[in-house]
Amino acid sequence: MEAQMEQIIAKISTLQTLQEVENLRVEIMGKKGILTQQFAELKNLPDEQKKIQAKILNTFKQEFESKLIEKKESLFTAQMNENLSKEAIDASLFSALRPKSSGHPIYQTMDRIIDFFVNMNFSIQSGPLVEDDFHNFEALNLPKFHPARDMQDTFYFKDSMLLRTHTSPVQIRTMEKDSLPIRMIAPGSVFRRDYDLTHSPMFHQVEGLVVDKKDSISFSHLKYILEDFLHFMFGDVKIRFRSSFFPFTEPSAEVDISCVFCKGEGCRVCSHTGWLEVLGCGIVNDKVFESVGYKDVSGYAFGLGVERFAMLIHRVNDLRSFFETDLRVLEQF
Ligand code: PHE
Repeated sequence: MEAQMEQIIAKISTLQTLQEVENLRVEIMGKKGILTQQFAELKNLPDEQKKIQAKILNTFKQEFESKLIEKKESLFTAQMNENLSKEAIDASLFSALRPKSSGHPIYQTMDRIIDFFVNMNFSIQSGPLVEDDFHNFEALNLPKFHPARDMQDTFYFKDSMLLRTHTSPVQIRTMEKDSLPIRMIAPGSVFRRDYDLTHSPMFHQVEGLVVDKKDSISFSHLKYILEDFLHFMFGDVKIRFRSSFFPFTEPSAEVDISCVFCKGEGCRVCSHTGWLEVLGCGIVNDKVFESVGYKDVSGYAFGLGVERFAMLIHRVNDLRSFFETDLRVLEQF
């Protein structure tokens, strides 16, 4: 028995798992365990021997129990540490399971527009979304009660502050702070009281403005860069400039591309004209230069709606689907 006890104690140190610890405990101290049996047999021994044997068994029992508990604790700690390190989250790790976002289609389109003009050496300018009447209207040759203000359904605040209805006020702000030559675009959100298939109360525009010395900027510069730009955005389309009106440009034009849906044949989207209007532009009206104190300069400006571009590029017919944040829709881009 003595030798067997030593073996049992020695075995404890070789145990690898909590289950093995439990198995050994049952083997030794369970109902049918070796030690349990030994204790049961004590009664069969003569008194003298019973005492000695009981002492041996108790000493063994104590040692066995304390060694087993020690082992159990160390295995438990080891297992917990292992679990902790396995379950630990490394937030910096790349997860192959997460699909890489390609960005919202509006911003994809915006980025592509910006790429073109940055490559053409335009700077990027910005202005406040809450504008004053001067920058949004007055300085752009839209005096109070001018009928053209009706073209832009405005959200007003107190004290003639408003949500900017277009990115054109950034033209004014840039001319106020910078000097010639000016070659800028202003991407950003704008606001109008409009909501239907093709209009939303918040949408995005990209404004463009080029100003330099008198007689150095002409309509042909404007035409050249916009044709290049529209081919970059829409590929092989036909382009036409249609005379139009904006208070801040004179002469003004609206630019059409041949319909990307029917290739100019005529369809529902282009109202059977074969053409789609994509931007407004013109030669900067001298009244605008006067309002910022510029003299002897010339320039051109243009403005476009990013949502309209995105709808045509991705053939989306309801603008509102861009804003509903439905992943099933957005994941298609
Ligand atoms: N601001 C005009 C609009 O919102 C667009 C435009 C900008 C037209 C610059 C001409 C020149 O409709």
